Amino acid sequence: MDLLLSSPVPVVSFTFGLPDEAVVAALRKAGTLVVQTVTAPAEARAAAEAGVDVLAVQSSAAGGHSGTWTPQHTPTATPLPELLTAIRNEVSLPLIAAGGIATPVAVTEALAAGAAAAMVGTVLLRADEAGTSAPYRAALADPAPRRTTITRAFTGRPARALTNDFTDRYSGLAPYGYPALHHLTSPMRQAAAAANDPERINLWAGTGYRHAAAEPAERILQRLASQV
Ligand SMILES: Cc1cc2nc3c(=O)[nH]c(=O)nc-3n(C[C@H](O)[C@H](O)[C@H](O)COP(=O)(O)O)c2cc1C
Repeated sequence: MDLLLSSPVPVVSFTFGLPDEAVVAALRKAGTLVVQTVTAPAEARAAAEAGVDVLAVQSSAAGGHSGTWTPQHTPTATPLPELLTAIRNEVSLPLIAAGGIATPVAVTEALAAGAAAAMVGTVLLRADEAGTSAPYRAALADPAPRRTTITRAFTGRPARALTNDFTDRYSGLAPYGYPALHHLTSPMRQAAAAANDPERINLWAGTGYRHAAAEPAERILQRLASQV
């Protein structure tokens, strides 16, 4: 925070929890736009009261970690447009929609539900520019019917990933234990990536992963925006 206040940046974005109001106020005073990830109307209300500028509304369809403030519970499976509408009804801040967006229709639905912008992660994972490892890319493109699941197995915090041997074996057992579990499983995940073994890698993926195409990011984003 000292660094961000002495050398301000245009945007600071928080996830996993809400900073103190004083932190939000100090950043805004330094000219920084403050973005807060929320996953539920109650989180949105609290973030608005804390004075943030923009909300990143993340549905449980999102790939990777959920930004939920209650990681002891599996995030509720509310469709993104429904979540946006519920939050739109409570707060008037600009909303960035995220979670499972993978098609032009999903982008227009998010905007129609009151979002000012749409944000994607998973659909870029096979882009030419992405740093995704070879076994991770192969798993995303695998025609075999993998599913995605919300699991604490890799990090101790709920995150959506492609199912593999590790999630099948440990999702039912994993405690809430972030970041200890993250550090505990990190060497295994790195070794698995080096050994080309997708069964022990955290294959973060949102529900729209089948739309992730191997092409330049620019083309992916232009297609997603084509019906706006
Ligand atoms: C591989 C991967 C890594 C991610 N890492 C982070 C992260 O470090 N911090 C964060 O706030 N969100 C992270 N996310 C979540 C994204 O910010 C975003 O909420 C999500 O990708 C949107 O859903 P989608 O993947 O279905 O498009 C990650 C997502 C993926 C797929």
